[in-house]
Amino acid sequence: MADPALSTTRIRAGVLDRPGVPVRIETLELDPPGPGEVRVRMAAAGVCHSDLHVRDGEWEREGPIVLGHEGSAFVEALGDGVAGAFPGLRVGGLVALSWLIPCGACRACRGGRVWSCSASPSYTHRMPSGRAATHRPAGGGGEARGGDVLTYCAIGTFADRQNVPAAAAIPVPDGTPAEVAALIGCCVTTGVGAATKTAEVQSGSSVEVIGLGGVGLSCVIGAALAGARQIVAVDRVAAKLDLARAVGATDGLIAGPDPAETLAAIRDLTDGGPDTCFEAIGLTATIELAIACLPTGGTAVLVGMTPFGVRASFEPFPFVDGGRRILGSNYGSADPAADFPRYAALHLAGRLPAERLITSRIGLEGIEDAFAAMRRGEGVRAIVEFEAG
Ligand SMILES: NC(=O)c1ccc[n+]([C@@H]2O[C@H](COP(=O)([O-])OP(=O)(O)OC[C@H]3O[C@@H](n4cnc5c(N)ncnc54)[C@H](O)[C@@H]3O)[C@@H](O)[C@H]2O)c1
Ligand SMILES: [Zn+2]
Ligand SMILES: [Zn+2]
Repeated sequence: MADPALSTTRIRAGVLDRPGVPVRIETLELDPPGPGEVRVRMAAAGVCHSDLHVRDGEWEREGPIVLGHEGSAFVEALGDGVAGAFPGLRVGGLVALSWLIPCGACRACRGGRVWSCSASPSYTHRMPSGRAATHRPAGGGGEARGGDVLTYCAIGTFADRQNVPAAAAIPVPDGTPAEVAALIGCCVTTGVGAATKTAEVQSGSSVEVIGLGGVGLSCVIGAALAGARQIVAVDRVAAKLDLARAVGATDGLIAGPDPAETLAAIRDLTDGGPDTCFEAIGLTATIELAIACLPTGGTAVLVGMTPFGVRASFEPFPFVDGGRRILGSNYGSADPAADFPRYAALHLAGRLPAERLITSRIGLEGIEDAFAAMRRGEGVRAIVEFEAG
C-alpha cells in the first residue's frame, strides 16, 4: 500500500471564504507533498490577532483561505529534494512553523535582514512553486478536483494536516512542548524579538508595554530577559496586568478612556517616561500614546498592526529636538531558523515562560468563539488542539 503521508488526504480545516464571514470548518483535499514541500500533522495552533484582522476584513486577502499562522507540527513525509537541503528535518520530529520564509535573494535577505524579506513565498499564501496544495473536493460535475483553497502565510495552521514549504518547518530541541513550539511560531518570536533584537533593550533600563495579548506579554518576557529594571504593563483589562506581573512586569496600569490621564500616569511611574515603549495593539490612539510618553532619547517600538490605511501623527519638533526614535518591528527581527531553537532552549532552561500565555484550549470549531473573546479583550492565547492520528 502507498504511504498515506505521500498520497492525497482528506483534512479538516478552518476556512475563511471571504473577509467578514465566519470561519467554517470544512473537509478539504490535500495533495501529496511536492518538491520542496513537507507534509505535516498539526500538533497545536495559536489564535493570533493577525488571523482576526484577516477574518474581519481589516487586511484584504484573497479567499478562500485556511487561516492560522502560529503552529507546531510533526513531520510526516518529505517531498523531493527536501532531505538533502534540510538535513535537520526527520519524519516524526516536532517543528515550529514560521510564517515568514526568507527568499534569500531580495535586497533585505542579501543584507541579512531576513525579517524584512519582500519576496517571501508566504506572502502569496501558496507553496514556493506557486501552487495551492489544498483544494475543495470535486463536486458532482465530473471534474478531477474542486477549487483551490489558499493557506495563510503558506502554513495555514487551522488544519489537522498541511503541506508547508520545507524552509517554514524549523526543528526545535527535544522536549519542547508542542504548545510552546506553536507560540514560538508567532507571538513569542514577535514580542521577545521586539525587545531583545529590534529594540535591544538595555539592562537596567525602563520599559513600557501597551497591550497585553500574546504579543505584548511576549514583549514583557523579552524585556525581563534583557534585564530591564522597570517594566510597566498597560492594558484596558485588569486581568491582563496580573498575567503581566507573572511573566516579569514590575508595575501595571489600567488604560482608561482618556489617553491624557494614561499619559500622565505613565510619566509619573517612570520618572518622566520609559526608555523604551512597545505598542502591541495597532490602534492610532495607543501608537500616539507610545510616542508621546517618551522622554528625551526614548524609543517607541511599533509592534501592533493597524488595519490597512490607518494613520497616526506626532509633533516633529520635540521629537527631533529630544533625539527620540520610532522603530517598526516585524516578526521580532527574527531569523526563524536560528531564533526558534534558541527561544525553545530558553524555555526549556526556565527563562522564557511562554506557557503562561495559554488561557484556553479549543478544537477547530472553537475558533469563532476565540475570535469573539479576543475582540472583547478576554483571555490571551487560545490553543487549537488536534487529535493524534
Ligand atoms: N509586528 C509583527 O510582526 C506582529 C506579529 C504578530 C501580531 N502582530 C500584531 O500585534 C497586535 C497584537 O496581537 P495579539 O495577538 O497580542 O492581540 P490581542 O488582541 O490578544 O491583544 C491585544 C491587547 O490589547 C488590549 N487593548 C485593546 N485596546 C486597548 C486600548 N485602547 N488600551 C489598552 N489596551 C488595549 C486588549 O485588552 C488585549 O489585551 C495585533 O495587531 C497583531 O496583528 C504583529
Ligand atoms: Zn501572529
Ligand atoms: Zn527575501
